[in-house]
Parts: sequence; C-alpha cells; structure tokens
Amino acid sequence: MFLHLLYWRCTRNGYGHIAARRVCHEVLFIDTANLDEIAEAKSWGCLAGVTTNPSLYAKTGGKLADFEPHMLKIAELCEGLPVSAESTATTAEGMVEEGRRLSALAPNIVVKLPVCEAGLAACRALADAGVRVNMTLVFSPTQALMAANAGARYISPFVGRYDDIALDGLSQLADVVACIKNYDWSDKNPDGRVEIITASVRTPNHVTQAALLGADIATVPMAALKKCLHHPLTDQGLASFAADWASPPIRDSP
Ligand code: E4P
Repeated sequence: MFLHLLYWRCTRNGYGHIAARRVCHEVLFIDTANLDEIAEAKSWGCLAGVTTNPSLYAKTGGKLADFEPHMLKIAELCEGLPVSAESTATTAEGMVEEGRRLSALAPNIVVKLPVCEAGLAACRALADAGVRVNMTLVFSPTQALMAANAGARYISPFVGRYDDIALDGLSQLADVVACIKNYDWSDKNPDGRVEIITASVRTPNHVTQAALLGADIATVPMAALKKCLHHPLTDQGLASFAADWASPPIRDSP
C-alpha cells in the first residue's frame, strides 16, 4: 500500500483536473539549434534532449545544404538523448522521405512533423516503420489526440504563442495533458508511450506550471533556461557566504 502511494499520486492541478499518475520526472530539453548553447546546457548535467525547428536553424545562420550535417552534429553532441529534427516537406510523401533520411542520420534523431493532414499520414507511415515522431504546432486537445492516434511518440503543445495573442496557453496545455494521460497508447508507436513536450516556453513559470500539470517534458530556450536556474536570493546567499568566509573567522580556543 505504501509503495503504491509512493508511486501514484492524485493531483488537482490549477486548472481543476484531477490526475492520478505515476510519479516520474519532468525533464528539460533545450529548444535551439545553436551548438554552443547545446554544449553549455549539456555541461550542466541536467539536459535530457534537444528540439529544433526551421526558424531555430535559420537563426544559426546555417545554409540549407548544411541542415542535415548540422542535425548530425547535434545528435552526436547529445548521443543517447532525443534530438528533434523538423521536416520542411509539404506533402505526406515528402515528409516520409525526408523523415526516413533524417532518422537514418543517427539513432537518437526524432522526426518532427506539423499536425495537419499530410503530417498525420506521414506520422503513421514513419511510426509503422519504427521511426519516432514528434508532432509539433499542437494548439488543441483534439490535435493532440489525433497525433497520438497517428503514432506520434512525442506531442508538442505550444504555450507561449497562445499567451502572445492574449489567450491562456497553460489552460490549453492542461486540457492536452488530461486528454492524453487518460489513455493507453502502448500499441500506437515504436516505444508504446506518448510524452508531452511543453513547447513555446517563454518563462520559468511556464516550466513550473507544466510540471504541476504533469507534462513530461519542457523544451526551453537558453535565455529562459538561465532564468530557471538563477534566483536573486541564491546570488545574495552566495555573496554573504563569501563575505563571511573572508572576514576574520572564529577560531577554537587553544
Ligand atoms: C517546439 O519544439 C518549437 O521549437 C518551439 O518551442 C517554438 O516556440 P516559439 O513560439 O518560441 O517559436
């Protein structure tokens, strides 16, 4: 009974859902295609994966012809961790072809596809061929359910872009988490499980709320990751420890 209680917890989250779920870890991915940022985040010892997209690759200044070699570099730098590489094809056939090529680059590459008719069809074909797919640009629970049924291994609901248009991204995320966690996806994709990647993260509060809601993963840009780590009271504490240590210490009497 005690063990049961240890591994399962009933939670009422801020959005009123009651979730009974296995206690595991919210893992942090970095949302970037910049090799220096990935290497730095990896050096901290808590990085669990990387997500990229065409805009993030464009920000690195990389050329189109270097896209696949660049993805391979990220995959090698993060050996053993999932690295999402996004297809830019617009047809199901094109996505399947590009997805096969991307996934053949390295075993830890996850193919990222947009949630749309072509994306769903390509997802099913790739999942049937044993390729892991991260379904992106998810903005509603129904899109998430369709993606999971089409064989997505990861589903990426976007939070920040909702907030950008003055809507509540976290409440959408809450609905996605509740819908996906209600079902067993063990026969739908190569790993038999679906993980939710909270995407379009802008603030540490997005990361905290995503964890409280039971999202499996948050993918976080470098600037927000640093904000997640730093706290003024930590800085103040460090400064006062250093100052006290530098002042004349109290010695044991002889
Ligand atoms: C998801 O994996 C995307 O890369 C991402 O989080 C997009 O977020 P944005 O809204 O900051 O562009």
